[in-house]
Amino acid sequence: MTEKGFVLLTGGGGGMGEKIALKFLEDNFGVLAVSRNISTSLLSQSIVPARCGISFYGADVSQEEDVIRLMEHIAAMTDSIDVLVNGTGLTVVKPFHELTINEWNDVIGANLTALFLCMKHALPFMKKNMWRKKHIFNILSIAAERSFPGWSVYCAAKAGALGFTEAIRPELLEHGIRLTAILPGATNTSLWDALPGTWNRHVMLDPQVIADTIKDIYDTPNEAVLEKVIIMPKSGVQ
Ligand SMILES: NC(=O)c1ccc[n+]([C@@H]2O[C@H](COP(=O)([O-])OP(=O)(O)OC[C@H]3O[C@@H](n4cnc5c(N)ncnc54)[C@H](OP(=O)(O)O)[C@@H]3O)[C@@H](O)[C@H]2O)c1
Repeated sequence: MTEKGFVLLTGGGGGMGEKIALKFLEDNFGVLAVSRNISTSLLSQSIVPARCGISFYGADVSQEEDVIRLMEHIAAMTDSIDVLVNGTGLTVVKPFHELTINEWNDVIGANLTALFLCMKHALPFMKKNMWRKKHIFNILSIAAERSFPGWSVYCAAKAGALGFTEAIRPELLEHGIRLTAILPGATNTSLWDALPGTWNRHVMLDPQVIADTIKDIYDTPNEAVLEKVIIMPKSGVQ
């Protein structure tokens, strides 16, 4: 682990994850980036791990046995987690009556269950070394508060994740851990690659903006908590 602290980043293989990891690495944090397929992650292809203080771990964090295995892996690396970024997410876009139960479970799993499991099992690590700042970022979506036709299960998962985030914030603050919900609008990442429809990717947010915002929030004085931050493209939702 590097001097500043240890960042556990789920969804670390995706567009936002890559920028968030690089942002913390630049500031001399150690980063463990988690996704199901680490060989295809943008990060693992663009960075030399040994030189940069980053490592990768393959896990499906919607599954409790994988999260327990992940924490065992972390215990062999460090005794504390300073920053947890819950950045997993996926969506299926179609009329609700065409959703299969597997699609429903996958979307709820990646966007909601994963947050619960990672925060629950990371908590013992986050309560250690309290002289360092402790911060959890839950990357949700504007879909937590606004509805979009065809995005029903994603809206349900993100709204549920926002409710869960708001409900547990006092429990985390008791331990000195700050918790921020990040609600981005459309952001130009690989999430859009396989979605049906035509999307104007040029007017979407650059994922660098999300990463910069998260690091700026982390850097605010520890006495303050930014509870919820909505970040929209100037062009609107689309
Ligand atoms: N892009 C947008 O417009 C937008 C807007 C608002 C909010 N968001 C949210 O921002 C977050 C990051 O999304 P992104 O845009 O960076 O999307 P992305 O490029 O598709 O990245 C998502 C990441 O999550 C990982 N992942 C998905 N399910 C997982 C699971 N069960 N266990 C472990 N890893 C899992 C994926 O890797 P594997 O497939 O290899 O597991 C990938 O690394 C998500 O929560 C998303 O909902 C995105």
